[in-house]
Amino acid sequence: MSNESINWDKLGFDYIKTDKRYLSVWRNGEWDKGTLTEDNVLHISEGSTALHYGQQCFEGLKAYRCKDGSINLFRPDQNAARMQRSCARLLMPHVPTDVFIEACKQVVKANEKFVPPHGKGALYLRPFVIGTGDNIGVRTAPEFIFSVFAIPVGSYFKGGMKPHNFQISSFDRAAPQGTGAAKVGGNYAASLQPGAEAKKANFADAIYLDPLTHTKIEEVGSANFFGITANNEFVTPKSASVLPGITRLSLMELAQSRLGMTVIEGDVEISKLDRFVEAGACGTAAVITPIGGIEYNGKLHVFHDLEKVGPVTQKLYNELTGIQSGDVEAPAGWIVKVA
Ligand code: PLP
Ligand code: COI
Repeated sequence: MSNESINWDKLGFDYIKTDKRYLSVWRNGEWDKGTLTEDNVLHISEGSTALHYGQQCFEGLKAYRCKDGSINLFRPDQNAARMQRSCARLLMPHVPTDVFIEACKQVVKANEKFVPPHGKGALYLRPFVIGTGDNIGVRTAPEFIFSVFAIPVGSYFKGGMKPHNFQISSFDRAAPQGTGAAKVGGNYAASLQPGAEAKKANFADAIYLDPLTHTKIEEVGSANFFGITANNEFVTPKSASVLPGITRLSLMELAQSRLGMTVIEGDVEISKLDRFVEAGACGTAAVITPIGGIEYNGKLHVFHDLEKVGPVTQKLYNELTGIQSGDVEAPAGWIVKVA
C-alpha cells in the first residue's frame, strides 16, 4: 500500500495493511531467527490453543516521528518485560528483550513511510504471541508464533485530547486473582459487551470497578485511570487485576519528578469521586484522554469540566507527548532511536 492515500490529519485507530511484519516461530524448544514478511495472513492449525483456549497475549507501543525526521520508540523494554510476564502467566515461551526490541525496530524501518509526520499521530506496533500447532486438550501449545505488525494511528477516542464521558459497567473484565494484570485476549473478549453497551449509550467506553467489592474504580476500558486532587496529588488505582500500564508508570514518574506532585497508588472509591478536581484515562492508544464525567447509578459525576481540559491534565499531556516525540528531554533510558 502507498502512504499517499493516507490523510495524516484524519487518522483514527483503524487497521491499515502496511508493507512488512515480523514473524518468528517457536518449535522444539526454541525461537527461529525470525523474518520480515509481506503476508498479513497467518496459516495456523485448527487445533491452535490461541483459537480455543485463549492462549495468546499482545502488546501495544508506538514509534514517533521527531522534528529532525528521526524516529523514537517509547520505553520498548517495558513492553518486552510486560509481554514476558503475560507469557509466563499463560505458560508461553518468553521473547527475550533484545529480540523484542530488534523486531520492533525492523518493523518500523520496513514501514518507515507509514510513520506519520511529527505531531500527527504515530506508528502503532502490535507485538503478539499465540499458541499454535495441532492440539485439542487444555494444555500449553506445542508451537508458538511471535509477530509484530504496524499501523499508522491517530486518536483512539474520537476527538483526542478533549474530555470524554465514561460509564461504570456492572460487568467485570477480570477476576481478582485472574489474568487482569496480563495483557491477554480473554480480558478484552470480556470487555466487548460492556464496551459496546457504553458506546450505545453515547459514552466513550466502560469503566470497570474492582471485581471483588464493586466499590473502587479499576480501569477505563483499554486504559488506566488517574485522578488529580486539589492537594496536588496524582492518584491511580492499586490492584492485582489492573493492567500495569507503561503510560501510567511514566505519568507517575513525571508527576513526581517534573510537576512536583505526590503520587498515590491506592483505592479510588466510587463513592468519593469528589476528592478529584481532574481525572483522565491513560494508555498507549488513549495517550491521555481527559475524563469529563463518569455515569454511575444513572447520575453523571463531572470532574473538571465537560468541555475544557484541566490544567494539570494538560501539563502531563504536554510533558508526556513532548518526550515521546523528542521535543522535551526524556528521562534516561526512555527513548530508543530507530533511525
Ligand atoms: N489497561 C488496559 C486494559 C489496556 O489495554 C491498556 C493498553 O495497553 C492500558 C491499561 C494502558 O497500558 P499502556 O500504557 O502500557 O498502553
Ligand atoms: C494499547 O493502548 O496499546 C491498547 O492495548 C489498547 C488497545 C486494546 C486498543
